[in-house]
Amino acid sequence: MSTGDAAEQAARSERGADVGRSAEAEQVLHEGRSTDFGLEEIIEHRPLIGLIWAQDRHGVIGAQGGMPWHVPEDLAHFKAVTMGAPVIMGRRTWDSLNPRFRPLPRRRNIVVTRQDSWGEAAAASDERARHGLKRGDLQVVHALSEAVTLATQDAVAEGAGHPAPVSQPTADGTLLHDAAARAAAQSTAGTGTAAQGAGAQVEIDAWIIGGAQLFAEALNSGLADVVERTMLDVDVAGDEGVVGDTFAPELGADWRAVPAYEVDWATSRSGMRYRFERLVRA
Ligand SMILES: NC(=O)c1ccc[n+]([C@@H]2O[C@H](COP(=O)([O-])OP(=O)(O)OC[C@H]3O[C@@H](n4cnc5c(N)ncnc54)[C@H](OP(=O)(O)O)[C@@H]3O)[C@@H](O)[C@H]2O)c1
Repeated sequence: MSTGDAAEQAARSERGADVGRSAEAEQVLHEGRSTDFGLEEIIEHRPLIGLIWAQDRHGVIGAQGGMPWHVPEDLAHFKAVTMGAPVIMGRRTWDSLNPRFRPLPRRRNIVVTRQDSWGEAAAASDERARHGLKRGDLQVVHALSEAVTLATQDAVAEGAGHPAPVSQPTADGTLLHDAAARAAAQSTAGTGTAAQGAGAQVEIDAWIIGGAQLFAEALNSGLADVVERTMLDVDVAGDEGVVGDTFAPELGADWRAVPAYEVDWATSRSGMRYRFERLVRA
């Protein structure tokens, strides 16, 4: 392997390129684990669309086509949260993924591009296909709305006849269910779908995983219901000397943290402090 190949392999990861990801992190990424979304009190409508990202103290999410940090716990979190659901990403975010691990396994990968023939080119350059490995599921679309429609068509079909949103924000930022709507949703929703009984998991029907262009469009068009955000206690410019060039979107006042999900700062094996946050749109 040439020095260039090694550098590229180290620099590209499941959640966009991080710098110098270890073998241990690779393992974490591909083990997966289950997760409880803890969104029993979220609005009762489907499909549910989530955005997920990690950012530094100043909102940096990317630099030079990659992510300027290495936090294996966040990569594992990303994998656990998105596993099994469609993931929607901009073409540049696709480019940032490790070619060996894309499409992201066990998730429908939907890439948004304005380029007419990008899909054929991507398929032709897919390293998994070249090595005879399973390619997984890659779909290419030319608009975010098209991606969401594609990702959520099953949920829409299952949820046909669901009641309109009936929740309302409370003073502490949680969302209250309407009991009748919950019961109706429970009777029509399939196993593992968004509307289940108290204490059950709530699933997100599709995750928009970046980058900044897609996050901005999703928020501006009111597409997003949930934000899963990893706060990293680092200033990449000051601490790492890296100039961030891609930034997380600003969330408006209508976004509230889910109190039940508040967790303390933890320290990564890499030494960096991090904290997971979940927010819902009221
Ligand atoms: N920290 C994190 O959690 C995180 C997560 C994801 C990504 N990132 C980082 O973010 C950076 C990439 O983000 P980015 O904002 O530069 O790019 P991006 O959003 O990933 O992709 C932008 C591309 O998507 C396509 N696109 C965007 N809007 C479109 C629309 N309305 N219709 C059709 N196609 C559309 C275009 O592709 P074409 O040019 O092919 O037409 C555009 O160039 C990288 O540094 C990556 O590592 C970080």
